[in-house]
Amino acid sequence: MYEQEKKMLAEAAIKQVKNGMILGLGTGSTTRSFIDALGEWVKAGGEVQGVATSNETVEQAKRLNIPLLSLEEATHIDLVIDGIDQIDPRFRVLKGGGGALFREKVVALMSREILYLADASKFVHHLTGPLPVEIDAFARPYVERYLRDKQLDVTLREHDGQPFVTDGGHLILDVDLERVQDVRHLAQELKSLTGVLETGYFERQPDHVLTVEQGKVRQVAH
Ligand code: A5P
Repeated sequence: MYEQEKKMLAEAAIKQVKNGMILGLGTGSTTRSFIDALGEWVKAGGEVQGVATSNETVEQAKRLNIPLLSLEEATHIDLVIDGIDQIDPRFRVLKGGGGALFREKVVALMSREILYLADASKFVHHLTGPLPVEIDAFARPYVERYLRDKQLDVTLREHDGQPFVTDGGHLILDVDLERVQDVRHLAQELKSLTGVLETGYFERQPDHVLTVEQGKVRQVAH
């Protein structure tokens, strides 16, 4: 079911792609469907260049012969297309379930426009999290203690029984938001802590959000 929705979102997103664009390519299962569709589009003669937000996306784009630019090589980014974990009615967004939050945020901040693809499960009244917090490993005890002193539940993200390590070589703490009234405030506070690289709270609002409702793709109005 969800796979079918992701394919529908991917096909709708392809319609936003124009020849000559420089695209930010997100990370995650939704974006993976989009990049598959983009591969077909390029194979059929479409011309784009992509800026990838993770090693996983680099690998997929290379397999599909989608030309890539590094962030330094890109003169600009026209449009970033990415998935999300949660979005609230004010278009505040949580990302980072796949661990690529830092590069995703940099690319989103540099892009002229942002398009998020979100199945119905991503829409929430309140951002309930978890909020991913990317940290330097040395600072882990400090950041964990800071969060626990605020009575917040913190879990070190793991993969196959080992700490999950981001493409940038950092760790991720997933913070439960159940007791948090103001996620924006917490995210800002965390950004001021030594050892915190980034959080999965995305301040910049998307220009477009596509979802699937009753079997049809529709644009969500803000
Ligand atoms: C990657 O770090 C994340 O921000 C993903 O974009 C987000 O978790 C959405 O993933 P899915 O498309 O797999 O739900």
